[in-house]
Amino acid sequence: MIDSLIHEFDKALRTIFTTAPTHRPMPGENVAEAEMSDAERKHAGALMRINHCGEICAQALYQGQALTSRDPVIKKALEQAAWEETEHLNWTERRIEELGGHKSILNPIFYTGSLAIGVIAGKFGDKWNLGFLAETERQVEGHLERHMAELPEQDRRSREVLEQMKLDEIKHADMATHHGAAALPTPIKQAMKLSSKVMTTAAYYV
Ligand SMILES: [Fe+2]
Ligand SMILES: [Fe+2]
Repeated sequence: MIDSLIHEFDKALRTIFTTAPTHRPMPGENVAEAEMSDAERKHAGALMRINHCGEICAQALYQGQALTSRDPVIKKALEQAAWEETEHLNWTERRIEELGGHKSILNPIFYTGSLAIGVIAGKFGDKWNLGFLAETERQVEGHLERHMAELPEQDRRSREVLEQMKLDEIKHADMATHHGAAALPTPIKQAMKLSSKVMTTAAYYV
């Protein structure tokens, strides 16, 4: 018990404070940096900060869900998806740096909240756990699309990162559906949208 607590706490600290690893190269790595005004760079950096914060939340959600899921097949699928989220974390962090921005100071708070939500979702059993995951991924997909429309037109480096992330998130939602995700009740979906609105609005500024 103590061992696993220490392990999870260590994971949390590494997620929030160190640079995440990646196997895949950063999408758009070979695309030339675009000419942008200061305002455009700042805006792109803020959008990438939101995406980075979202990935921090994804780490915590998956961590919470894997902690409480009992089915070894589902646990394995969660771990694979979590690894891809780790790569997203790496890419968004690097893009923030390239744009001269900074990570959100709210990351520890959002991490803690998401971990709690993941554990609670997991407690409801695998079908609801996966339902929650599928809905999260679908909302993230919609959100990434909005960001791609909002990024400065010429910022192809950021766009390539978001494109690949979107493909991965679609795959994660499909994975959850494939393993038997239940459709969530509408009020839960709306509550999730509302909480992500709070996160995205706050992380844009700080
Ligand atoms: Fe992701
Ligand atoms: Fe995902």
